[in-house]
Amino acid sequence: MKKIAVLTSGGDAPGMNAAIRSVVRYGISEGMEVYGIERGYAGLIENVFLPMNMRSVSDIVQRGGTILRTARSPEFTTDQGQELAVKFLQKRGIEGVIVIGGDGSFRGAEALSKRGIPTIGIPGTIDNDLAYTQYTLGFDTACNTVLDAINKLRDTMSSHDRICIIEVMGRNCGDIALHAGLGGGAELILVPEVPVTYLEILDRLNDDRSKGKYSSIIVIAEGVGKAEELREKIKDSLGASVRATVLGHLQRGGSPSCRDRYLGTCWGVHAVKLLKEGTGNRVVGIRDNRFIDLDIDKAMKMKKEFNYELYEMANVVSNSAINKY
Ligand code: ADP
Ligand code: F6P
Repeated sequence: MKKIAVLTSGGDAPGMNAAIRSVVRYGISEGMEVYGIERGYAGLIENVFLPMNMRSVSDIVQRGGTILRTARSPEFTTDQGQELAVKFLQKRGIEGVIVIGGDGSFRGAEALSKRGIPTIGIPGTIDNDLAYTQYTLGFDTACNTVLDAINKLRDTMSSHDRICIIEVMGRNCGDIALHAGLGGGAELILVPEVPVTYLEILDRLNDDRSKGKYSSIIVIAEGVGKAEELREKIKDSLGASVRATVLGHLQRGGSPSCRDRYLGTCWGVHAVKLLKEGTGNRVVGIRDNRFIDLDIDKAMKMKKEFNYELYEMANVVSNSAINKY
């Protein structure tokens, strides 16, 4: 394979630039021409291709976001959109594509592979919601962003005997809340995978207050609900001062952590190696500290299992979960 392209798609994530840099530099070192496609699949069907060289990716490994930008493209979910994409790729003689994104983007990669353009997916989403891999790009950086917020909020909340509810990203997956909450010693961690009632929350907080613990941190994943709504529900019953903070898109930015740069770099090389041998329709990942790749459809059919053991550990060690589960 002598000509390949790389794009970023879906929600951006810290570490995407490390992956782009690795794809470009390793691809060129293997004698390939490498093109960047701007704005994900939208750029692909608009025929926007940027020839990349070694210097195109200088000084980006430490930057969050994606130099290729990203976009969502409903048109690419249609046959017409995909046929247009294949036409543009074939016209330019591009023989393989690397897609950095989440599960939706991987369905696009599968569509390209089935239409004769071998495509490899690199998991890039802060949610860490892909079952086939233990980590996705951006998750570690996002957890550290949340951890920094927990530390700062705990300083001021404990000074005022206040309770703070911190809303983090994660619509169907509570991994950011769980990992950052555990690391931050949050007293309560609320995740979509474990239903909790207001009464149970109040019982826990009242129990803490009866033991003289007047300040707590509650981390709530957005998939459970809004921090402000929970604050409204508990502040009067508790007779305590409660504040709510929504971290929002702060969690999507920031300089990638060492781990995210490491993963992005290794996955970029892994993806180019697969294309070089003519392999497509696969996603790369990591399990038990070993780099893996597997068929996209197989990977997407795997169901993410919630780590109840870690949730229980948080419950015991930082007294932060309500239920056993
Ligand atoms: P993520 O990759 O983070 O899950 P999205 O779900 O928004 O993000 O998907 C990103 C893009 O991938 C969409 O805008 C669309 O262009 C493409 N895509 C999503 N699902 C499919 C699909 N089933 N078939 C083809 N392309 C898809
Ligand atoms: O999928 C990653 C993610 O950051 C989710 O955690 C969040 O709910 C969503 O993207 C936000 O999407 P947007 O950037 O389109 O508002």
